[in-house]
Amino acid sequence: MINIAVFASGRGSNFEAIIKYFKNSKSVNIACLVCDQKNAYAIEIAKKNNIETKIIECLKYKTKLEIVQEQQIVDYLIQNNVDLIVLAGYMRIIKEILLKSFINRIVNIHPSILPSFKGLDAVKQAFDYGVKVTGVTVHLVDEQIDHGKILDQRHVYVDNNETFETLLKKVHKEEQEIYPMVIEKLAEDIQKQKGN
Ligand code: GRF
Repeated sequence: MINIAVFASGRGSNFEAIIKYFKNSKSVNIACLVCDQKNAYAIEIAKKNNIETKIIECLKYKTKLEIVQEQQIVDYLIQNNVDLIVLAGYMRIIKEILLKSFINRIVNIHPSILPSFKGLDAVKQAFDYGVKVTGVTVHLVDEQIDHGKILDQRHVYVDNNETFETLLKKVHKEEQEIYPMVIEKLAEDIQKQKGN
C-alpha cells in the first residue's frame, strides 16, 4: 500500500476526485491532507471523508513556508509513512527541505499545457492569449515553478463561442480525470521500487 499526502489551499475539487477514485483501492491510501489555509473547503472534504488534516499556516510569507515549517511537515509525513506528495492547488512554492526529503516523490497538476502559461491563473492567461488548444499537465516537482518531468498531459479545445467560465469547467473536468490515473501509475512504480 502506498500512502499519499495531498496538499491543498482551496476548494479541493482535485482532492475530492482523488478521494473518490481511491475509495476502495488496495494500492493507494490517502493518509492525510496538508493545508495552509484554515478556512479552505478542502478541510471540510477531509473531515467528511475521515482524512486527517495538518494545518500549517504561514503568516510571514505568502508564497512559501518558513524553513522550520517545511521541516515540521517533513517530520509529520515521515511519521505517517507518506510515500508520495500530491499537490492539488497548494499555493506555496515547495522549497529545499521538502524537495530533498521527497526526491521525485512530489507531483503537481497545472491547468495548461506546460511549458506554456506557467504561474497563477493559467486558464485565464491561455484564454486571454486566444489559444485554440490548451489543457492540463501533471509533472514532478523540482526547484522551479511549474517545471519538472512531465508525466502526462491532456488537451482541451477552445471552441469559437467559448467563455472563460466554460473553458475553466472543461479544464477542471480533465484535471479530475487525469490526476488520479497518473497518481495510480506513480504509486505502482513506487511499490515496485519498494520491492513488494
Ligand atoms: C487546479 O486548477 C490545479 O490545476 C491548480 O490549482 C487548482 C486547484 O483547484 N494547481 P482545486 O482546489 O483542486 O479545486
